[in-house]
Order: sequence, then structure tokens, then C-alpha cells
Amino acid sequence: MPYNTDNMDLLVQSNDDVDATVRTVTNNADTIFTWDYEKGARAGLNKLYEKAKGSQWNGETDLDWSIEVDQEELLRRRGLPDRDNLLDFGIDVTGTSFEKWSEKEWLQLELETSAWTLSQFLHGEQGALVCTAKIVETVPWIDAKYYAATQVMDEARHVEVFSKYLDTKVEGFYPVNVHLQALLDDIINDHRWDMTYLGMQVMVEGLALAAFGNMMQQTEDPLLKKLLRYVMSDEARHVAFGVLSLQEFYAGLTEKELFERQEFAYDAAVRMRDRFRRQEVWERVGIDVREGISVFSAADPNEDPFQQLLFAKIVPNCKKLGLLDANDGWLRRRFEEMRVIQFENFMDTGEEYELLDAVSV
Ligand SMILES: [Fe+2]
Ligand SMILES: [Fe+2]
Repeated sequence: MPYNTDNMDLLVQSNDDVDATVRTVTNNADTIFTWDYEKGARAGLNKLYEKAKGSQWNGETDLDWSIEVDQEELLRRRGLPDRDNLLDFGIDVTGTSFEKWSEKEWLQLELETSAWTLSQFLHGEQGALVCTAKIVETVPWIDAKYYAATQVMDEARHVEVFSKYLDTKVEGFYPVNVHLQALLDDIINDHRWDMTYLGMQVMVEGLALAAFGNMMQQTEDPLLKKLLRYVMSDEARHVAFGVLSLQEFYAGLTEKELFERQEFAYDAAVRMRDRFRRQEVWERVGIDVREGISVFSAADPNEDPFQQLLFAKIVPNCKKLGLLDANDGWLRRRFEEMRVIQFENFMDTGEEYELLDAVSV
């Protein structure tokens, strides 16, 4: 069954502004000063801040950049796709442009996909850098401003190491995916300070934590493995920061206000699940974007186990924030439809960061 192409026009969009070196987005939020300097008034945030101060690794000296990385060899060892093994995943290329592809083309597709994925990680990291700087300005609590300042430093390192890895170990680089940029724009545009946390710390970073974990398990490159391990040890704290901060704030919101947050979380979830379809890769390997998307996307994205797994962190965190069950379980029902509700009792990231300590890298 072909992929439902109802919203194909939306899916095939790609960034038409690839030559610009800067992008300007309007930030509509107020900048808040606080005169309440009492450190530790929020014990959970204070603990996280103290932990972050002792967990600052250095990408230049803690990673061994002299390691030679042969991307082709790594991909070959992992196993390239071909007509036959794709059938195991329910992808039949008979009668499509892929039917006559040789190993050379499949290898090129895998190389481009790696470069695209790492490039989107890089752009997402810059999104986190910018969003967390926004939190420093907009959150009213001193403990949260302190913690967010450490996260800004973490994100600078993440941008730095992904950029260096792409620059020195990977052939190829991709501009930001248009849908990722739109999601980041929405988060920056919003005037409510908690929406930055919900969009970035809970949704984007929750998904990133799952995606990085997946890549870390798959790759046999010792440099990338260690790089991801370091980044993940920070990301787990970042997601915990979102959960700890919003838990307190959401406890005081009305059902109507909570519904706005539920809708925001659901929209971000659907957008992240459906729209990052490596459309830019299809352009680069000479495949019509519509064909690439329809051949490689599951007929029902809810049935795609990899897509589901990306929600392993998001769902328990939404539960902990009370977003699953507010308004008669509105978001619970949406996550049931997306077939990701099974993650609701997984460990939430409010605690998990203690297990992912950089010291144990
Ligand atoms: Fe990050
Ligand atoms: Fe982060």
C-alpha cells in the first residue's frame, strides 16, 4: 500500500534559502529580571545546576580526533540496503526508479543519509543553543536561569563537536530541513516562557535523546560513539530541566491553559514524526522527491517501529507533567492513535540523567 500522499505537497518542501548565512526570527517573549536571588529555592533545579557545573567536558581534548573514519567501510560493514533485504521491511522497489540500482547507488544513498542526519542533528543543536539562551532571559526563577546558563554552554559544545565531525569525518553537508526550522521558529516566536521548555526541552530534546541513543548503538565508529555518549549525558540533564521546571508551573494551570500545551505537544509530535523525510537526500541522489518519500515511508507512519521508538522519552515525560490525562485524557488518546502510549511508564527523564553521567563515559 503506498504512503498516504494527502499532504505530499507539504512533505516535499525543501529549504529554498540555502545560500543565506543568517536567518532572523522574531522572539516575542518578555525578558524577565528577578530580584529574588535565593539560591536553592527550587532544590531539584539547584541539584541539576551543581551537577552540570561538574560535568563540563571539552570536545577538543576529550575526544580523539586523530581517529581515521572510513564512512564507506562502516556502512558496508553494517550492511547496505538492496532490493531483497528491503522487502523484509515491507519496502518493494519493483517498478520504481530504485529497481535497477547497483551497490554503488545504494552506498551513495546511505552516505548522503548519514550526512543529512548528522546535519539535522547539528542544526537542532543550534536550535537548542538559541532556545536555551531565550530561557535564560524569560524564565522568572533564579535557579532556572543558573541552570539554563550551563545548558547554553553545553549546547555550544554540541554544535561545536557535530560541526567538527561533519567537517572532518563526513563527505557532504545539508542545510536545515524546512520543517525542523519551522518547528524551531514556532518555539522562538511564542511569547509564553514555558512553551520554549515544552517545545525544546521536552519534545525536541526528548526525541533527540532517543535518536542519539539509536545512532550510538548502530555506529561502529569509536569517535562518533564517544561523541554521542558525551552529548547524551548532557541531553538527559536538559530534558530533566524541562520536566522539573514545567512540573511546578503546570500544577498551577487551568484545564484550558493545559489544553493549549497538550495541543502544542501533539502538533510538535506529529510534525517530528511525519515531516523529516530526508527530502533533500532524494534531490541529491537524483530521485524524484515524491517517489522517494512514497517508496520509503511506511504506509501508516503509526506502524513504523523506528518512528515509535523516538517517543520513548517524550511520552513518560508528558505523563509526569500531567499533560497525558488533563482534559479527560485528550493527549493520551492522541498518543494511543499514534501507537506510542506503551511508553507511558518508561523511566521519565526527571530521574534518568543520574544514570547518564559524563564521569562514567
Ligand atoms: Fe544538545
Ligand atoms: Fe540539549
